[in-house]
Amino acid sequence: MKVSVTTRSGREFIKGGLELDDSATVDDLQEAIYKRTKKYYPSRQRLTIPLQPGSKEKPTVLQYKKSLKEYSDGNNNQLTVVFKDLGPQVSYRTLFFCEYLGPLVIYPIFYYLPVYRYFGYGGERTIHPVQTYALYYWCFHYFKRIMETFFVHRFSHATSPLSNVFRNCAYYWTFGAYIAYYVNHPLYTPVNDLQMKIGFGFGLVCQVANFYCHILLRNLRSPSGSRGYQIPSGFLFNIVTCANYTTEIYQWLGFNIATQTVAGYIFMVVAAAIMTNWALAKHRRLKRLFDGKEGRPKYPRRWVILPPFL
Ligand SMILES: NC(=O)c1ccc[n+]([C@@H]2O[C@H](COP(=O)([O-])OP(=O)(O)OC[C@H]3O[C@@H](n4cnc5c(N)ncnc54)[C@H](OP(=O)(O)O)[C@@H]3O)[C@@H](O)[C@H]2O)c1
Repeated sequence: MKVSVTTRSGREFIKGGLELDDSATVDDLQEAIYKRTKKYYPSRQRLTIPLQPGSKEKPTVLQYKKSLKEYSDGNNNQLTVVFKDLGPQVSYRTLFFCEYLGPLVIYPIFYYLPVYRYFGYGGERTIHPVQTYALYYWCFHYFKRIMETFFVHRFSHATSPLSNVFRNCAYYWTFGAYIAYYVNHPLYTPVNDLQMKIGFGFGLVCQVANFYCHILLRNLRSPSGSRGYQIPSGFLFNIVTCANYTTEIYQWLGFNIATQTVAGYIFMVVAAAIMTNWALAKHRRLKRLFDGKEGRPKYPRRWVILPPFL
């Protein structure tokens, strides 16, 4: 099969095209492009079927592992694909690991090291029990996330653009330092004992629930099977589409009830806004995929993220 590879402006991208076996798959084509260009490894490539001039439709993206014949529209000897460079990529695991390692390392620095001297606070610092528990809670949270990244999540995409590492790290690392600065501050005033216990107790229950939600999401995909989407069900997923985000937001609420800083509440509101945006998109996608037509199941009525509001 002869495959012509063009750019989005219609220019020939691989001079003379590529000659592939009739049984070749999309990944064979990506490997062949990589061999010829030496720069664009498979996860950097986005291959689509060219659109008719003036068409407003979204182009069909070639799916990894599918046979090229499925895209050749009856003409088994010739296929034209459009190439787009997605830029340098990193694995999702690397991205998440970098994001979470920052807060895990930065927070204890404010607790253990005499950093406040550099902010003009000399002398002895009294450490309140709530500050110690907050350190354990915080580190447990980010350690759990790193473990989930490596041993629980089954991601649909292998990689993410490298630029996301810088953006996401800036977000997590800055907020980590901001909250750590205030919770460990020498002038920090602790809340009463009961409030601390309620906050951490509630937060921990939510962290365990969040972990269980991630296990349920993991079980929606088999280790070697398709990376597609299923209807999440069981536990809180029976009432809310993104129960993992619900429990994530509530576990930050628990931390904030116990530690009570403006910085912590700001982080919670920003994180909730980001997750709400993602949850709306995920809810829409599941409703579109499971529309009840042509034998497909219908997505049940559910809250998106925060019952009884959304
Ligand atoms: N504090 C914050 O600012 C903040 C922000 C975001 C997330 N988080 C935390 O980090 C966790 C992970 O975040 P995330 O955005 O990666 O979570 P996510 O997309 O909701 O789900 C985690 C994993 O489950 C998969 N999955 C989700 N819905 C699925 C479905 N219907 N069928 C099959 N697989 C499905 C996802 O696949 P895909 O690879 O296809 O997505 C992903 O691998 C969250 O649950 C939350 O605890 C915190």
